[in-house]
Amino acid sequence: MQSLIIPTDPAQDYFPTIVESIVKQGYVVLNQVFDVDYLTRLLKQLKALDSREFNRAGIGREDTFQKNVFVRSDEIHWLSGEENFLTRYNQWVEALRLYVNRHLFLGLYEYESMFAHYPVGAFYKKHLDAFKAGINRRLSTVLYLNPQWGPQDGGQLVMYDKESDQVLCEVLPVFGRMILFLSEEFPHEVLPASRSRYSLTGWYRVNEGFNPAR
Ligand code: OGA
Ligand code: MN
Repeated sequence: MQSLIIPTDPAQDYFPTIVESIVKQGYVVLNQVFDVDYLTRLLKQLKALDSREFNRAGIGREDTFQKNVFVRSDEIHWLSGEENFLTRYNQWVEALRLYVNRHLFLGLYEYESMFAHYPVGAFYKKHLDAFKAGINRRLSTVLYLNPQWGPQDGGQLVMYDKESDQVLCEVLPVFGRMILFLSEEFPHEVLPASRSRYSLTGWYRVNEGFNPAR
């Protein structure tokens, strides 16, 4: 009988590290989960998305939606999850969801994602990713897609300690780097950059009705 072998994405090798770091410090920064060839194709396809479908990012959800340029000035394109060129990324995301649920019991239920573009000078002031009304985002992911990015270009993600407000780390958005962090635990901000800054950003959410600790 022929055996069916489903090859595993080598990018899944990072799952144990991700879980260990989340347990230890609540976040993890990884420099090269996906190979450069794949990321290059990804960036090209994301950039080809219809620019008319980019929205000035809003704060809050539908009923409290407002375009607040004082808080953030990036442009976002929501992804449907059906984009063909995102199949590998989305499979990785889904495999990680199952892995994290198996090891951390977070009850992650679904994933929403967007392609974000920060034009020159754009920023996002200090905030938490979990919405105030109906806090259902549990794990944030940001994959940076900026070739040849250096400290002189700015655009750092600054992560803060929720209690002490001390800076925990500054993350330069270099090509292929990825950060994952517990959405409710880390206030963070994006500093202005001197070049266009791109990322594929997403959130694992729990089911609206699933709120074990509340
Ligand atoms: C966000 C965000 C961080 C980054 O979109 O909520 O905080 O580094 N992004 O782009
Ligand atoms: Mn954020």
